[in-house]
Amino acid sequence: MNLSLSLTCNRLKFGLFDSGVGGLSVLIELVQLLNGYEFTNHPEIHYLADTARCPYGTKSDAEIIDYVFQIASWFKQNDVNNLVMACNTSAAIAANKLRIMSDMPVYDLIGLSSNQDLAKYSKIMVLATNATVNSKAFTQALLKQEPNLEIFEIACPELVMLVESGNFDTNDARQILKKYADLAIRQNCQAIILGCTHFPFLTNALVKLLPSNIDIINPAKYLAREISQNLQLANVVNRKGQNCVLKFYTTGNSDQFKLQLKQCLNLAINHVEFIDLNYLEQLSSISNELNSAFINNINVTPKFAVS
Ligand code: DGL
Repeated sequence: MNLSLSLTCNRLKFGLFDSGVGGLSVLIELVQLLNGYEFTNHPEIHYLADTARCPYGTKSDAEIIDYVFQIASWFKQNDVNNLVMACNTSAAIAANKLRIMSDMPVYDLIGLSSNQDLAKYSKIMVLATNATVNSKAFTQALLKQEPNLEIFEIACPELVMLVESGNFDTNDARQILKKYADLAIRQNCQAIILGCTHFPFLTNALVKLLPSNIDIINPAKYLAREISQNLQLANVVNRKGQNCVLKFYTTGNSDQFKLQLKQCLNLAINHVEFIDLNYLEQLSSISNELNSAFINNINVTPKFAVS
């Protein structure tokens, strides 16, 4: 890894993954950022939706770790050189472990959630999946920066499938979201962190249920800033605007994922490649080897890589 490398003969290849469409909310931020820079080779973004195993948030830690290592191994085989955990559940359970074992930079949003200006808040609510809430990963990250902050982590697994089904700003969505909005109001929270990458698609619905003095925070905004800083360190600072190459993969139904891409991003994609779970699961043996070498609780700051 060499931060001072220019990208003249190198290609940036990002791998993003999520259990489904949630990570597309992260992809938007990354695309907007990368399209603002000039590269000799178009950067590539490869997005894997593990739809066949969605949702992750109700799975055991062992299962989630296994999925994450299979997917990281698969990206590695496909020459990805920067990995973005566009799934907070995966990051909450496996980011530290993956960073130790990975020879490429691994980005996640949870650590970045503390990059915002937290000093103005005394009480914050984090909406996330069961696994993320149980891990307390957000609380730990936020308290590192603001030790006096009061944090409520609330599990709302039903919101994941709501978004998967394309219900963003519908009556159904608002009805389900109302109990979380009311809770935030009752608890006098000044901000809600969207602690699951599916939830930014519900922002419009949520805004309608909240008073204007409660902020909605999408941690993915801070990912772009983090990567942008690394791009500048790598001397890739010309801003001209080139489109990056996008490639999509799913372990579920390709046609269904094409529809979801249209719903979520208004993006018409001709080809979504199907990845057989049997194939991914074969990578388990590699991931088990990596797994057995884990050393827990070591935090490694991601660096930027080009290959
Ligand atoms: N979008 C993911 C997250 O940020 C996963 C949600 C799920 O599959 O339960 O947690």
